[in-house]
Amino acid sequence: MDTFITTNRESFGHKFAKENPHMLQRIFGTNDLTPFWLADMDFPVAQPITQELQRLVNRGVYAYEFNADEVYRAIATWNKERHQLSLKPENFIQVSGVLTGIALLVRELSDPGEGVLIQPPVYHQFAQIIKTANRKIVKNPLKLVNGTYQMDFDDLEQKLQTENVKIILLCNPHNPVGRVWKTEELQQLVEIANRYQVTIISDEIHSDIIYSGHRFNSLMSLDKHLQHISLIGSPAKTFGMQSIANGYIYIPDDDTRKTIKSVVASMYLNHGNALTTFATIAAYRKGQEWVNDLVSYLEKTLAWITSYLKSELPMVKMYPVEGTYQVWLDFRETGLNQKTLADLVVKQAKLGLTPGNWFAKENALFMRMNIASPLPKVQQAFQQLGLVWSQTSDLL
Ligand SMILES: Cc1ncc(COP(=O)(O)O)c(C=O)c1O
Repeated sequence: MDTFITTNRESFGHKFAKENPHMLQRIFGTNDLTPFWLADMDFPVAQPITQELQRLVNRGVYAYEFNADEVYRAIATWNKERHQLSLKPENFIQVSGVLTGIALLVRELSDPGEGVLIQPPVYHQFAQIIKTANRKIVKNPLKLVNGTYQMDFDDLEQKLQTENVKIILLCNPHNPVGRVWKTEELQQLVEIANRYQVTIISDEIHSDIIYSGHRFNSLMSLDKHLQHISLIGSPAKTFGMQSIANGYIYIPDDDTRKTIKSVVASMYLNHGNALTTFATIAAYRKGQEWVNDLVSYLEKTLAWITSYLKSELPMVKMYPVEGTYQVWLDFRETGLNQKTLADLVVKQAKLGLTPGNWFAKENALFMRMNIASPLPKVQQAFQQLGLVWSQTSDLL
């Protein structure tokens, strides 16, 4: 773990999307801040990925090359070893990204005007996908029970009875609240979905960032999962390959898989990109140790944040993070309103955290922070917040 390389990406002198001044200006009204809003990593990727990309570049030949089957085998082996999950390589379909996969499935498995259910606060692109596909957004908000987010099954059942829902869009692990759904919770969800013949699309992009004491349960690990679909096996979040990763749809049902496969093929979306393909194989075949080190590093960061908040900013609540490198911060006890909170965090502490109302409009006094950064950078961010809070709270 001491060897985990955390080079601060600012040292490259290059502005990635997270630092892009135009985007910062548009989102925060200023670009004079340290950004923690986008869900990617500051860290350089695992060495085997870089070596593989170098090998391809040195080869200098980029002829047509299709190795999707080898990718599927690598993903299946990874999931067997890491999550004791048995996946059949032949059940995968490759698309260019997880969101592409979800957008395509939503269009194929429902008709315009029909309902697609989400569980806010949740990754904001889900609502965007549903809206742009002209489907109806149906909300089944998570509920907070004794400081833990839980699914509201009574509300879910009621929505499935009344809202013409065809699809449930599940986020497991859940971005932004950090829950890693337990088998019993997923079983209950599947049981209700099956009763109403609703298909669950399970976005499992964050499946490998799981903290001690928790275990990732894919929807595909359940007994009665057959009519459902998961997006498992994107290396984007796990290995920090956001700009070169594909997405992988896993469909156990033969008829549904045949239909989706032919749609993907008819649009030529299944064409491999050699750099992506070989980088993905290298990641899943040789990246185990790097991911273990990453998770240990993030755990150390989480421990530091927990302790800092307890001693210096006890009115800022952080919900237990079971997985993902996002933390969900609740500022409701500060007594600030939406405007004064933004002023404190963005203008004074100069931090670009994701506004909570991106994930649910009721969560304007929450913020999401991506902590996949070197610990000193995260520490400095919280210390800036602590400093401006100590100056501000005297005035409140
Ligand atoms: C839950 C979830 N799904 C999908 C994505 C994006 O996936 P992709 O870049 O493969 O489309 C993200 C990125 O933050 C995410 O958090």
